[in-house]
Amino acid sequence: MRILAISVLFVLAGLSSCETKQEVREYTIGFSQCTGGDAWRRAMHEEMERELSFYPNLIFEIKDAKNSTQVQQQHIKSFIAAGVDLLVVSPNEAEPITPLVEEAVEKGIPVIIVDRRTASSKYTAYVGANNYEIGQLTGQYIAELLKGKGNIAEVWGLEGSSPAVDRHRGLADVLNNYPDIHTVLKVAGEWEHEIAKAQFARAYHDSLQVDLIFGHNDVMAVGAFESLKSIDKARGKLFVGVDGLSGPNGGLQFVSDGVLNATFLYPTGGEEVINLAHNILEGKPFEKENILSSTAIDSRNVHIMMQQTDKILNQQQNIERQQKRISEQLLVYQNQRNILYVLLGGMVVIIVFGALTLLALQEKKKINKVLIHKNEEVIQQRNEIARMAEKADKATEAKFKFFTNISHEFRTPLTLILGPVEDILKSKVSRELQQDMLLVKSNALRLLNLVNQLMDFRKIENQKMQLQASENDIVSFVKDIAASFNREARKRNISLEVHSEPKTLKVYFDLDKLDKVLFNLLSNAFKFTRNEGKVSLHLSLSDNCDKVIIIVEDNGRGMSQEHLTHAFDRFYTGEALGNLSTGLGLALSKEFVDLHKGEIIVHSEKWKGTRFIVSLPLGKEHLNASEIMSFEPEEVNTLLRDLNIQKAAHLVEEDEQDDITAAKEFTVLLVEDNAELRTFLKNKLSADFNVVVASDGISGIQNAYDTVPDLIISDVMMPGKSGIGLTAALKKDKRTSHIPIMLLTARESLQHKIEGVQSGADLYITKPFNVQYLIEQSKSLIKSRTHLREHYNSALSADAPKVTSPKKQDKKFINEFTALVEEHLADASLSANEIAQLMGMSRVQVYRKTKLLLGYSVNDYVVNVRLKKAKHLLLNSQMNISEIAFTVGFSSSTYFSTNFKNHFKMTPSEFKASHLV
Ligand code: FRU
Repeated sequence: MRILAISVLFVLAGLSSCETKQEVREYTIGFSQCTGGDAWRRAMHEEMERELSFYPNLIFEIKDAKNSTQVQQQHIKSFIAAGVDLLVVSPNEAEPITPLVEEAVEKGIPVIIVDRRTASSKYTAYVGANNYEIGQLTGQYIAELLKGKGNIAEVWGLEGSSPAVDRHRGLADVLNNYPDIHTVLKVAGEWEHEIAKAQFARAYHDSLQVDLIFGHNDVMAVGAFESLKSIDKARGKLFVGVDGLSGPNGGLQFVSDGVLNATFLYPTGGEEVINLAHNILEGKPFEKENILSSTAIDSRNVHIMMQQTDKILNQQQNIERQQKRISEQLLVYQNQRNILYVLLGGMVVIIVFGALTLLALQEKKKINKVLIHKNEEVIQQRNEIARMAEKADKATEAKFKFFTNISHEFRTPLTLILGPVEDILKSKVSRELQQDMLLVKSNALRLLNLVNQLMDFRKIENQKMQLQASENDIVSFVKDIAASFNREARKRNISLEVHSEPKTLKVYFDLDKLDKVLFNLLSNAFKFTRNEGKVSLHLSLSDNCDKVIIIVEDNGRGMSQEHLTHAFDRFYTGEALGNLSTGLGLALSKEFVDLHKGEIIVHSEKWKGTRFIVSLPLGKEHLNASEIMSFEPEEVNTLLRDLNIQKAAHLVEEDEQDDITAAKEFTVLLVEDNAELRTFLKNKLSADFNVVVASDGISGIQNAYDTVPDLIISDVMMPGKSGIGLTAALKKDKRTSHIPIMLLTARESLQHKIEGVQSGADLYITKPFNVQYLIEQSKSLIKSRTHLREHYNSALSADAPKVTSPKKQDKKFINEFTALVEEHLADASLSANEIAQLMGMSRVQVYRKTKLLLGYSVNDYVVNVRLKKAKHLLLNSQMNISEIAFTVGFSSSTYFSTNFKNHFKMTPSEFKASHLV
């Protein structure tokens, strides 16, 4: 759209530039007119207007001073200030106007004087008739008219104006030659008809015997005539004037009417002024003095003159009409041109739009083609996906079948394992073997349970799972299940509360399935509740007594929002850390409750606890006939006995008896979240080591700080802090960084091993492992560390005092103390005081302990470590002696060398040289 607008503008600009415009400059012309009230001046203005129509670039402004010299002065000043390009002045009076005209000329404004003159010749040009000549012409004419004898009355124009002065001078000069002609009366008419009339009437009296009245202009002569006429004294007298203006009330008319005997033509010069101004402004040549000619008009030639002036007037009117027409035509032309522009612009827009539409159509066609192609591709892809999905379904189905078969296959060997284990457990065997067998039994049962759950799922998926409901007392059923958790509750100090509102309640339910549901919920509750926690089971009737409600609640670690939304998803293992049985158990519980047309919901809050609510409908209307079984009491018992499989698995308890064997030399910290594996490993390791246990990463780390064991064995996959996190934390800390760490995990991938090693683990053992192998690896790790430490201590000083094997608490102190010294070694000002402060102990305490456990005073120990590190750097680094001195915290290399020599009986350089060979 923007391109379109630009192109239209471009075309219009092109069109307008086709017109060849001449650059015409505009000029302003100011005309200071002495008066504009009389016919002669109006004629002058009309002439000017006519002429101006040929020069549209001239802007013309007239200011009328109305016969006031002061007003005229103001006008001229304002024209100068406005910076007009040219000034035209017709001065009211010569003297007062002259300085302003000169000022304008000095300022570079050309000035044309018209009609009346100034008192100097400092102007650009003059237009007007020669008034002195007019005076002379008049004098000649009067002398002839009076035949050389008579009295004259002279009616003057404004006495300060040049025409009045010049006309009088010309007249007087001629009449001087006629001694019998006398001027008997002088009247100040000030160029105005009314003034002349009044003044003449006042001055005239018959005794003057006036023969001829000469007015400096026609209107004053007529004024005198009129004043005499009113007293009827005009008869026999002659009247002569100046101007000879055409039209009504013009001099020609007065002559023709016999009012005046003669008039002398005095042209206004309006036309000439405009032409002259144009030439001056355009820089064309011009005359300074433009004198217009005059002639006498009397009864002899007045008619010809009138005819001529009428003709001229007609022609002028014609010209005006023509000009008007031309202007109209110009307007029409301009309108038409504008319309043409608009039309052309419109056409361009249409063309551009047309082109764009064509382009868009083509583009659309292209896009359509691409779309059709894409559509085909999408359809193909969809078909392909459908085929693949079908294949995937088949493959999944096949996998499930295979999986089910395998699960099936597990049952026989597991049963075969369980038989002999039961036998062994019944026979008299050692306590250790009994413990192992219990562990075998519990895990075999757990596997069997898991396999059973998987099979149940398959049945549900294949819709082969059928509800086998029978009417039983749900209260005693629930209590029985809860009772199987009493032992665990007692052992872990968990308060297990079972409460039922009804004493008995007959409900149609599937014994096997509901048993699994409740057992599962209780197992979970116990699993996620800490020791000293609380688990409760509550049974009640719904408000309208149509449902039984069973609530299993704990105050354990709860679930996150994320876990909660997936609580019943069978393959969700988000936070359960690979705990398949929990995920399966809950999913299966939901399926079983659904089969009962019941409902199971869960509320949980992280770190606050979890509440499962199971509701089952009462009666049997909601069940199909095929879902209802009638069992004999004996059959019910058998069924319930079978259910004990999972409870048995649960009841095989780890025996976490305190270690009663004698204290061993080395301590191993075992961090494992699986209680059974923890007990199992603890039992096995106890033969060779003192064993300390922790059930998660966080307490593992705390235990490591507290006991400072000789070895840490940790599982990798643990809730909270993983084994890898534990390793990274302990290896970063100076107090524990020296302790070898062995990681155990079922994860076999190389990536996980790399992660383990990166975190700083010393050994990575994958499950399943051989216990003996684990014990041997532990011994070897501890041994290599002991060697290292012995070497370190021996290197400290040849005469290092013998120190007794420290106790657990003391080991912790030594650990912290040595780590601190190592960390601040470069600090030359490291003192016993500072160390004591950092360890949060008194200086005396630190001193005593160091002396007792390490055999040194704090300062000696620090110096020893500094020198030992220096020795190491002398042999293994590129640093020079003063750099080494600085690195190990000696303030000067001389002090370092003296200390070194005192200890090792040779200077650092000698020591270095002796080891170079
Ligand atoms: C008009 C007029 C003319 C006269 C001229 C002299 O104002 O009085 O009648 O000839 O001025 O300047």
